[in-house]
Amino acid sequence: MTLTKASAPGKIILFGEHAVVYGQPAIAAPLTQLRAWARVSDGQKPGVYISAPDLHEEHWLHESDEDDALAFAVRLVQQAARLPALPPLHIQVHSDIPIAGGLGSGAATAASLIRALARHLQQPDLARDERVAELTYEVEKIHHGTPSGIDNTVVALERAVYFVRDQPRNQIEPFKVARPMSLLVADTGVRSGTREVVDDVRRRWQAQPQRFQALFEACGHVARAARLALQEGDGPAVGRLMNENQVLLQSMTVSGPQLEQLVRAAREAGALGAKLSGAGRGGNMIALVDERRRISVQSALQQAGARRVLHTTIA
Ligand code: MEV
Repeated sequence: MTLTKASAPGKIILFGEHAVVYGQPAIAAPLTQLRAWARVSDGQKPGVYISAPDLHEEHWLHESDEDDALAFAVRLVQQAARLPALPPLHIQVHSDIPIAGGLGSGAATAASLIRALARHLQQPDLARDERVAELTYEVEKIHHGTPSGIDNTVVALERAVYFVRDQPRNQIEPFKVARPMSLLVADTGVRSGTREVVDDVRRRWQAQPQRFQALFEACGHVARAARLALQEGDGPAVGRLMNENQVLLQSMTVSGPQLEQLVRAAREAGALGAKLSGAGRGGNMIALVDERRRISVQSALQQAGARRVLHTTIA
C-alpha cells in the first residue's frame, strides 16, 4: 500500500498583523517546533475517508459539511488536478498546533493535506510551494473570510517573509536576518477565532476610517523599519519596534488582559521587546530575548500564567 506524507509548520507574525489585510507590509516566520502532518494512503473501500482526531473530525468526504475545511481542501486538489473522481483514499491529519491560538493551525493543516494529496495523486505541479500556498489560501477563506495571504504563504514556503497583499500578485520576499534572533512564544491559553477578530477590526475601520487607516499606516512604517533592523541584525531596534507595534495593536483593540500581562512580564524580565502575534484578543505573544536573558524571561512568562512557552530562532 502506498503511503504519502507531508507536513507544514505553524507560523508567527513578527510585525504587521491586521494592517496586512489592508495592504500594509508584514513580516512572518515559520514556527517549526509545532507542525501539522498529513498521511494519504490507498483506501480499502470506495470513497475518501478523512480522519483528523486533533480537530475532532472523522467522516467520509461525501458526507462532509459544505464548510468543512479539510473536505474543501480535498475537493480543491481534485478540481485543480482535473480529476472527475478520486480513487479510494484514507487521509489522516494530525496537528500539534493549538487551534485558535494565532499560530496558523488552519493554514498548516490545509497545506500539509494539500501537499500530501497532490503527491499521492502524482500531481507534482500542485505539490510545489507556490501552488500549495495558493490552494491553502482558498481554504483560509473559510476560516477567516478576508485573509491577507500571509499565513498560507509562510506555512507553504517555510521561510521568513516580508509580505505585502497586492493585485494581481502579492509581494512575497523571503529574507535572511544578519544574526539569528531568539524568540519566546508564550500561549495565553485564551482561544480566539481569527475570523471574529478580523471582522471586528473591519467594522471598527468602517466606523472610524481615518483613525484606523492611520493606525494601519503606522504599522506599515514599523514593519519596513523592522525589516531593515532584522537584516542588519540589530536586536535592540527590533525589540523597540515590537513594542511600538504592540501600542498600535492595543489602539486597534486587539490586545487583551492576558496578552498584556505576558507582554509586561517579558519586558520586566529583560526582553528586548514583546507583542501579541496573530489576530490577538488571546492566542500567543512573542518576546525577543538576548540569549543571556532567555531563561529568566521564560520563567517570568510562566509565572505570569503562560500555558506554554516555546523557544524559536529566526535565522
Ligand atoms: C492572522 O494570522 C493575521 C491577520 O493579519 C489576518 C490575516 O493576515 O489574514 C490578523
